[in-house]
Amino acid sequence: MDRKVTLDGVPVLRGAGVVNAEVLASGQALVDQSALRANPREARILNVVVVGTGYVGLVTGAILADQGSHVVCIDTDPEKLETINAGKSPIYEPGLERVIQNGLRTGRLTTSLHLNEAVAEADVVYIAVGTPPSADGTPDLTYVLQVVHQLAPAIRKHITLVTKSTVPVGTGELIENTLHQLGVESDLVDVVSNPEFLREGSAVHDTLNPDRIVIGVNRPGAELKLLELYGRYGCPILVTNRTSAELIKYASNSFLAVKISFINAISRICEECGADVADVSKGMGLDSRIGKQFLQAGLGWGGSCFPKDVQGLTKVGQTMGYDFELLKAAEKVNNEQVAHFLDRLRMELGSFDGKKIAILGLAFKPNTDDIRDAKSLEMIALLQSMGASIQTYDPVAIDHVRKIHPELDFRDSALHAVEGADATILVTEWDEFTGLDLDEVARRMAGDLLFDGRRAFRSEDAKKAGLRYYTVGV
Ligand SMILES: NC(=O)c1ccc[n+]([C@@H]2O[C@H](COP(=O)([O-])OP(=O)(O)OC[C@H]3O[C@@H](n4cnc5c(N)ncnc54)[C@H](O)[C@@H]3O)[C@@H](O)[C@H]2O)c1
Repeated sequence: MDRKVTLDGVPVLRGAGVVNAEVLASGQALVDQSALRANPREARILNVVVVGTGYVGLVTGAILADQGSHVVCIDTDPEKLETINAGKSPIYEPGLERVIQNGLRTGRLTTSLHLNEAVAEADVVYIAVGTPPSADGTPDLTYVLQVVHQLAPAIRKHITLVTKSTVPVGTGELIENTLHQLGVESDLVDVVSNPEFLREGSAVHDTLNPDRIVIGVNRPGAELKLLELYGRYGCPILVTNRTSAELIKYASNSFLAVKISFINAISRICEECGADVADVSKGMGLDSRIGKQFLQAGLGWGGSCFPKDVQGLTKVGQTMGYDFELLKAAEKVNNEQVAHFLDRLRMELGSFDGKKIAILGLAFKPNTDDIRDAKSLEMIALLQSMGASIQTYDPVAIDHVRKIHPELDFRDSALHAVEGADATILVTEWDEFTGLDLDEVARRMAGDLLFDGRRAFRSEDAKKAGLRYYTVGV
């Protein structure tokens, strides 16, 4: 059973001096209160190294620097680091550039290609490199292990080595064993799991306002340096064993994906029976046991995390002898959603052959330029295979898509994208699309079909503009 421990001696970097958090020590009850109380209450400036300066690493590093730590962000991509050093963000993420600039101005945020030099002074080293799926869906740990091999020879004093990357159960142990094989003394490194829950598009906000922080440790007190870094947040801090922390990340993302697939499955029934999935979702979400988040029907889940984490957990289950049929079903629902949506459009158009289709939005969701596993890419491939030509616009993601699909007709605004189109499909619900003047859209299109994959427009507005409006789940 969980043991609830209130810690009043955790040092906080800026603020009242008493952490406003609960630490729940479950399972092997790993929190040693006396060790915490022995810590100085005053702020201590920690030297932090973040390896992998992408969506997670850069946000983590820039915010820790903003809060007072000395942070070195490491990456193998020199261009990315040059961009950061010039005060620019290499990714589109609201609010991030300002935090980067502040870090550079105070000198607390620096970047480097050389992990070994940075590690010499480090108290905490985060691993935030990618863990893409391999061909069979198993998370590929190549980059994580690369980092472990690179840093091992440079460890001279104690570090807390933190996996922020989403890694399968058992990776902490694998890292520990690898370090041992590389001759690193075990008391020089605490390998800790600290899964990341930020969402792209609101990553800065999410990092500053977490719902919870999870720290997985296998040695009493291994969480202490992280509690120093995170003590300021007024959210629950859950300290578990390392395996539980690793699993919490996969279980959380997979649960959210299942929730979306559930409402998308309901949307299919709504389309047949005359119910409206928006009302069904609202009626369900008002139940506090269910909640309204992740209960919006649409084109399905995409992005850099859900698809690979669902596959990753299915694989973890398989390794443990459990066939995770629930996740497989959620994935099946998700994989059918775009094809089903396009099927409805094909019925209206007769055929896609030679038709001009305008796609509004390419990023996997608004407020990010990330197109990894974006529904737009699935849609483009299907439309092209059926003979349609595509004209498209996205506020920030065009350059990324151009690298994969140079043949597309990229336009410089939504209104230019719909010009002469037989049908317009909304794929990503950016604010600038939902605020579009639909009368003007109707005037510029050759056809009159508006297919809304995100339930972002009001059907009355579309109808008033003379458009035939279709959306998911109605
Ligand atoms: N993106 C998200 O929203 C999100 C949220 C939670 C968790 N995660 C997890 O965090 C991890 C990182 O995701 P991301 O989206 O930030 O990835 P990313 O691809 O944006 O960034 C990874 C960075 O690591 C760098 N890198 C690779 N090998 C390196 C090495 N040996 N040394 C130094 N740098 C190296 C790459 O150049 C890249 O800049 C993944 O495991 C992901 O599942 C991501």
